[in-house]
Amino acid sequence: MCVNQRWGRTMELRQWLLLLCLSGGLLQRRAQPDSRGFISIDCGLTEQASYIDNTTKLLYVSDAGFTDAGTNHNISAEYIRPLQSRRGQNLRSFPDGVRNCYTLHSLVSGLKYLIRASFLYGNYDGLNRTPASFELHIGVNFWAAVNMSSWGTDQGNTATVEAIVVVPDNLVQVCLVNTGSGTPFISGLDLRPLKKTFYPQATAEQGLVMLARLNAAPIDKTVLIRYPDDAHDRMWYPWYDATIWAEISTSERVYGVGDDLFEAPWKVMQTAIAARNGSGNIWFGWESSDAEPRDDDPARPGYVAILHFAELQLLNASNGELRQFYINLNGELAYPSGFTPEYLINNAIYDTKPSRHSVYNLSINATANSTLPPILNAVEVYSVIPTTNLGTDSQDASAAMAVKAKYEVRKNWMGDPCFPTTMAWDGLACSYAAANPPRITSINLSSSGLNSEISSSFAHLKALQYLNLSNNNLTGSIPDALSQLPSLTVIHGNNPNLCTDGNSCQLGTKRKSKLAIYVAVPVLVIVVIVSVALLVLFFLRRRNQQQGSMRNRTAVKPQNEEAMSTSYGGDDDSLRLVENRRFTYEELKRITNGFDRVLGQGGFGRVYDGFLEDGTQVAVKLRSHSSNQGVKEFLAEVRWTRSFNGMRLQLLAEMCDYDVESICLCRLRF
Ligand SMILES: *[C@@H]1O[C@H](CO)[C@@H](O)[C@H](O)[C@H]1NC(C)=O
Ligand SMILES: *[C@@H]1O[C@H](CO)[C@@H](O)[C@H](O)[C@H]1NC(C)=O
Ligand SMILES: *[C@@H]1O[C@H](CO)[C@@H](O)[C@H](O)[C@H]1NC(C)=O
Ligand SMILES: *[C@@H]1O[C@H](CO)[C@@H](O)[C@H](O)[C@H]1NC(C)=O
Ligand SMILES: *[C@@H]1O[C@H](CO)[C@@H](O)[C@H](O)[C@H]1NC(C)=O
Ligand SMILES: *[C@@H]1O[C@H](CO)[C@@H](O)[C@H](O)[C@H]1NC(C)=O
Ligand SMILES: *[C@@H]1O[C@H](CO)[C@@H](O)[C@H](O)[C@H]1NC(C)=O
Ligand SMILES: *[C@@H]1O[C@H](CO)[C@@H](O)[C@H](O)[C@H]1NC(C)=O
Ligand SMILES: *[C@@H]1O[C@H](CO)[C@@H](O)[C@H](O)[C@H]1NC(C)=O
Ligand SMILES: *[C@@H]1O[C@H](CO)[C@@H](O)[C@H](O)[C@H]1NC(C)=O
Ligand SMILES: *[C@@H]1O[C@H](CO)[C@@H](O)[C@H](O)[C@H]1NC(C)=O
Repeated sequence: MCVNQRWGRTMELRQWLLLLCLSGGLLQRRAQPDSRGFISIDCGLTEQASYIDNTTKLLYVSDAGFTDAGTNHNISAEYIRPLQSRRGQNLRSFPDGVRNCYTLHSLVSGLKYLIRASFLYGNYDGLNRTPASFELHIGVNFWAAVNMSSWGTDQGNTATVEAIVVVPDNLVQVCLVNTGSGTPFISGLDLRPLKKTFYPQATAEQGLVMLARLNAAPIDKTVLIRYPDDAHDRMWYPWYDATIWAEISTSERVYGVGDDLFEAPWKVMQTAIAARNGSGNIWFGWESSDAEPRDDDPARPGYVAILHFAELQLLNASNGELRQFYINLNGELAYPSGFTPEYLINNAIYDTKPSRHSVYNLSINATANSTLPPILNAVEVYSVIPTTNLGTDSQDASAAMAVKAKYEVRKNWMGDPCFPTTMAWDGLACSYAAANPPRITSINLSSSGLNSEISSSFAHLKALQYLNLSNNNLTGSIPDALSQLPSLTVIHGNNPNLCTDGNSCQLGTKRKSKLAIYVAVPVLVIVVIVSVALLVLFFLRRRNQQQGSMRNRTAVKPQNEEAMSTSYGGDDDSLRLVENRRFTYEELKRITNGFDRVLGQGGFGRVYDGFLEDGTQVAVKLRSHSSNQGVKEFLAEVRWTRSFNGMRLQLLAEMCDYDVESICLCRLRF
């Protein structure tokens, strides 16, 4: 980003951002916006720590609740200044991974937000080197290239970047992307909600990146104006040059009326620079960050400017007093006619569409009728960034994030799951249809050290076709909801506590050929294949109680174990059956001798008599595909069945694998 001399002078004042604040007391950490919708993060602050900022009285919290990567650092002592904000004293760096992100939750989808990131290198790494260059992304869209040596301040030590964007979801991710030019780091991150009507140039398709926001001729030249003087906590940097411009001000309040699209704070509007005389100009300029010389090239960055005016002197119209001026861009009239600011009223003249030039010279000169020189109270300049990249389908993305959170998956699970392809999450495969958000079609989380039960969030991945959870320490059973997924074809269990019999848990790989065999067997086979339903075994009272009764006793602890054993009272002992294994369809065929002896007919289908290899008598209950009862009801019925045709039954297991080739029976003791 290039700025000319006059702008450069202003930019230097950005360091005030870091000088303004002092530390306050310790408060509890919050990962939620405050009552104003503000999120104020001090990156690298000790987890749980928070404090009230001296100047703004805003609560700053540790970033620990917003990211799960990176390491905290304090800057070197020689960079700590007496009036420095506490915020600049520590930071978080991200030595690992290409993309590391902060997730800001509890936003309002479709609303406009100001997002601000600040950086203070402060030799935190003790290497006294040029700070790293890296990229910032908002969600799946490029925000800015942070290169402090080219446009930072304080000898390349500090920088602040700010954007105004429409946030499409109820959360937004701010990502630091390592471009191979050093370890990304960040000192502070702010989010401020704006009114929907504000900054009409910021739309769902384009965001605004701040180049400058200047308060002309402030009374206190050392202070930038922000919250609480600006209800939206924009930062207005001091801008003045007594050798060039005169200054005017008022002690009166300046008001916004009607639909004020910018609500510049009155503390900013009550001062202005003025040309020294009627024939003088006010002008300022900047250069495009793009070196390409061709104007109006759609590929070059566009800029919008917003000029804020309010008349601060009471003019005597009957005495012929008039302040009227033209606004010119590169010597051409930019505003159709002469403009006269209203007394103590906020007026803004702004580009509605970005213009694309290599250099910009905005000048303001008086009209021939004007008796007073032109003035300017404040100015904002933004470059425009496209925000048209499509992130992963939001339901898929939030389900994937819930899975990540539940299992604390690290890998590179940061930012958007599918986009861009170069940074998609390891183990995920996505479908990328043009003009549609990417969908998650496959998840391989095998050997990922997953603990606890299977997340119900998998069931929200409606386009999921493949799920591999093998070689983890998952417990419990597979949620019913997974069977509702329209496209899911493979789910691979093989977790010791989901199913303990290793051999019978192995999945075959020749799915197609087995399918053919199944289809060849009528009726029941179709039941098993098509419904891929929950198949449940009822075990009768064991003949040989000691054998197998204690096997894998501790493997699974259903939540309802206690309640259920109470309901069985003293009989529980005799029903202590702890077999926990998985059966293939072939095995079930063997156990039931080809489904030849029907014990009876239940609401869901037939119940068959059978014997395990060790002689245990079992009842096999199948859910008939023709049953119009659902899997859930079936399971509920099985769970509550106490007897069948006069026999006491105990539910031993429910199927926990939806793959058609095998049926896993997990213990579910009552
Ligand atoms: C910060 O606040 C404390 C307490 O109000 C005050 O004593 C101190 O002077 C303030 N520091 C600055 C730099 O304003
Ligand atoms: C930074 O300094 C603070 C206060 O001195 C200390 O509590 C914290 O542990 C330090 N952090 C690191 C990462 O050294
Ligand atoms: C950062 O800016 C400096 C100075 O303009 C330049 O030399 C350097 O190549 C830039 N680094 C990157 C990664 O763009
Ligand atoms: C008016 O002011 C400009 C600078 O703003 C100066 O160059 C010019 O000489 C002045 N003209 C008169 C007539 O004072
Ligand atoms: C405005 O100018 C007229 C004509 O010179 C004068 O009579 C009047 O007093 C002025 N009004 C104010 C408020 O100064
Ligand atoms: C104002 O400036 C523009 C652009 O430099 C110029 O074309 C125009 O003649 C000026 N108008 C007056 C009244 O000086
Ligand atoms: C910008 O335009 C003004 C008014 O035409 C002129 O006085 C000034 O020299 C220009 N600045 C640059 C850098 O061209
Ligand atoms: C300047 O004043 C004359 C006479 O009152 C008027 O005709 C003309 O339109 C005015 N010009 C502007 C730009 O307002
Ligand atoms: C699944 O992930 C595991 C562990 O990361 C890996 O070893 C394996 O190759 C992956 N399998 C497939 C089919 O991608
Ligand atoms: C399961 O947990 C045990 C002990 O907690 C551990 O030794 C083993 O490596 C884990 N297995 C997998 C596949 O993560
Ligand atoms: C699941 O992943 C494991 C380990 O990568 C692999 O051995 C197995 O074949 C996979 N299962 C399926 C059904 O792809």
